[in-house]
Amino acid sequence: MRCRGLVVLSLLTLHVLLCIVNGVFSGRTSSYVRTEFPSTDMPIDSEWFATPNGYNAPQQVHITQGDYDGKAVIISWVTVSEPGLSEVFYSKEENRYDQKAEGTSTSYTFYDYKSGYIHHCLVDGLEYNTKYYYKIGTGGSAREFWFQTPPAIDADASYTFGIIGDLGQTFNSLSTLQHYEKSEGQTVLFVGDLSYADRYEHNDGIRWDSWGRFVERSTAYQPWIWNSGNHEIEYRPDLGETSTFKPYLHRYKTPYLASNSSSQMWYAVRRASAHIIVLSSYSPFVKYTPQWMWLRSEFKRVDREKTPWLIVLMHAPMYNSNNAHYMEGESMRAAFEKWFVKYKVDLVFAGHVHAYERSYRISNVNYNITSGSRYPVPDKSAPVYITVGDGGNQEGLASRFNDPQPDYSAFREASYGHSILQLKNRTHAVYQWHRNDDGKHVPADNVVFHNQYWANNTRRRRLKKNHFRFDSIDNLISML
Ligand SMILES: *[C@@H]1O[C@H](CO)[C@@H](O)[C@H](O)[C@H]1NC(C)=O
Ligand SMILES: *[C@@H]1O[C@H](CO)[C@@H](O)[C@H](O)[C@H]1NC(C)=O
Ligand SMILES: *[C@@H]1O[C@H](CO)[C@@H](O)[C@H](O)[C@H]1NC(C)=O
Ligand SMILES: *[C@@H]1O[C@H](CO)[C@@H](O)[C@H](O)[C@H]1NC(C)=O
Ligand SMILES: [Fe+2]
Repeated sequence: MRCRGLVVLSLLTLHVLLCIVNGVFSGRTSSYVRTEFPSTDMPIDSEWFATPNGYNAPQQVHITQGDYDGKAVIISWVTVSEPGLSEVFYSKEENRYDQKAEGTSTSYTFYDYKSGYIHHCLVDGLEYNTKYYYKIGTGGSAREFWFQTPPAIDADASYTFGIIGDLGQTFNSLSTLQHYEKSEGQTVLFVGDLSYADRYEHNDGIRWDSWGRFVERSTAYQPWIWNSGNHEIEYRPDLGETSTFKPYLHRYKTPYLASNSSSQMWYAVRRASAHIIVLSSYSPFVKYTPQWMWLRSEFKRVDREKTPWLIVLMHAPMYNSNNAHYMEGESMRAAFEKWFVKYKVDLVFAGHVHAYERSYRISNVNYNITSGSRYPVPDKSAPVYITVGDGGNQEGLASRFNDPQPDYSAFREASYGHSILQLKNRTHAVYQWHRNDDGKHVPADNVVFHNQYWANNTRRRRLKKNHFRFDSIDNLISML
């Protein structure tokens, strides 16, 4: 009986495999129609942008990972009346604050806007899996927060990431954030386009400040892994602003030196069982540029025995079948897709397109301008590409998809939302996309991902030998 069941299941598996090999996909364009919200920014005097009480009280508090392996955080905040101190007091016990870290402060001008005093403080030497309380500011204006450090780097360390992109500061943005807060997300992977302050006359920096206060409810308590988008470029030679990314670079520090990157704009961190690579879509990346050289060496540092989950973040998606920003990621695809396949990247998250889309595992690495197939083909070594540019900014949704839906597109829908990626262990991850119109427990897209490194049969057998006995037909079948 067992044998017959096995044969039937094997045939079924074979059928599914053959379908995939033949390119018979069943991609889906969601028929869901979301209700129309106006996509205008919340008014500047909105309660969601309220400034904290007290003279010179720290505001716009945000934290990010401060080292390569998750034992440090960078804590950042802004004071407006005077520089004040850049000190962070912290401890593992509430109300104790017996440890101190010293940071620095900076400020910038943008045309006629002058920023507050922007403080950045590295707190390092932390213990894994520990809750820390921290205090910034002085006297009656001091403010207290907490954060939780991740588990030590380990192949089976489970960890939950949220993925948010193109957030902005509309009522839809608020809805996205409120939905995310109800999840189990422990760290946000942010895929670029933060405040959309550049949509205001003279790129009014006041909207950078309001955004910082708006997201503080999350960013003060858990790290957001930052990446930039086109709205961070802010190249305005007409206003005398000829450098790029000026406000972003002053406000959102990254631990780039820890991964031997030469720029705050691209870097990598390892967290729990994940190796996360952050790429800058709007910095040079062609062959021989610093970003290209760095990525080449970073891929060589990836150790899937320690961090099985290899995740890449970028702003402009490489695979996108929406009318909006169609093919804008093509130049980066030409530069990097080969490496993504070679190193068996698990997932590539992007934003930019204000809709949701998930691809099958496909690649187009055989295409070159002299010959080769011009079409993406199923490729087991390729990543899954996911676009989550649906945070809810003032530009609204990108609701026109190209027809027919290309073979590579598995699911697409123009709604606001966010994603959750739960890394369970070295082999399994549960991934869900939540649209804002639904309640907390309704994932509109729900997939189990098998790790690209540990999916290798030889490795899986080795793992099974160490983890399981052949005690059920399920175990046997899952090894096929
Ligand atoms: C960065 O480079 C230094 C010096 O070459 C080296 O000691 C360090 O291990 C490197 N860091 C990483 C994350 O590879
Ligand atoms: C381009 O395609 C041709 C034909 O498949 C192949 O011979 C050549 O090596 C390819 N070039 C590159 C740079 O991949
Ligand atoms: C990994 O997690 C999945 C999903 O939770 C579970 O089914 C599987 O047994 C786990 N594998 C190991 C080796 O623990
Ligand atoms: C699978 O892993 C084994 C050892 O871990 C390695 O020798 C083999 O080349 C891998 N196979 C593939 C197809 O990557
Ligand atoms: Fe964008």
